Amino acid sequence: MTPLLVGIGIGRDFVLPRQTLFTPGVVRHAVVDASLSVGVGESVGLIGESGSGKSTLVRILLALDRATAGTVEFDGRPIAPGTASSLRWFRRQTGVVLQDPYASLDPRMRVLDIVSEPLRALDIPGNHTATVIETLDRVGLTMAVLDRYPYEFSGGQRQRIALARALVHGPRLLVGDEPLSALDVTVRAQILELLAELRDEMGLALLIVSHDLGLVDHLADRVAVMNGGRIVEQGATSDVLRSPQDPYTQKLIAAVPTLD
Ligand SMILES: Nc1ncnc2c1ncn2[C@@H]1O[C@H](COP(=O)(O)OP(=O)(O)O)[C@@H](O)[C@H]1O
Ligand SMILES: [Mg+2]
Repeated sequence: MTPLLVGIGIGRDFVLPRQTLFTPGVVRHAVVDASLSVGVGESVGLIGESGSGKSTLVRILLALDRATAGTVEFDGRPIAPGTASSLRWFRRQTGVVLQDPYASLDPRMRVLDIVSEPLRALDIPGNHTATVIETLDRVGLTMAVLDRYPYEFSGGQRQRIALARALVHGPRLLVGDEPLSALDVTVRAQILELLAELRDEMGLALLIVSHDLGLVDHLADRVAVMNGGRIVEQGATSDVLRSPQDPYTQKLIAAVPTLD
């Protein structure tokens, strides 16, 4: 498989504020020697309990945070936090959806402005309104929503709008950090189906962080498991979820009785 996003030996230490004047600052090793890659058109799931380092690793892979060790490459080019213009080529090829569809959409902006924003920010030529309408259609929304505001929508509809904004510029990789966690069960299933459809229709590569093993089972070709900042196991989804080798993965999966 042709590699698209490749992180090698990633580490991230946070120095926590000193508790008293006379004690040294404590270093928290949020991510330790983690290597994770996503191939062209590949879907990768990243699982692990809360606090295991998933979001920190993803932020580094997206050049939103600087690693204290290791390297990240996209399409063979090194990635690190930098100016908007130095990262524009990378931002054009990636889209991001976060957990909370309430916090991630600017309440003062209309849907048209929200979804077209990346086209402006990334200097993408063409008729932006037409591109927005096309993208809304992809995520199951009509042009009737263009002039409306986020508060007028339910959580599931908002997550569709957030997805449209993540996809409007035609990225090759979509990264989701717990993209369904804030949604009701029934809505979650609809958005999950939508993600699978988009992946298949657009040939998107996916990197999805989730503690929902059902989602990962449905969506991911490969899974990586994090515990205490380290990737303790990774492999084909069916291998990792059905015959986990690492004791931590075994415990994680045993805690989900419904996975068949
Ligand atoms: N900015 C930060 N400063 C200090 N510690 C942080 C910071 N961000 C994350 N951490 C710590 O790093 C660890 C991993 O956090 P995170 O990546 O958010 O885990 P996850 O996404 O798996 O829940 C946690 O112990 C968290 O408290
Ligand atoms: Mg997280």
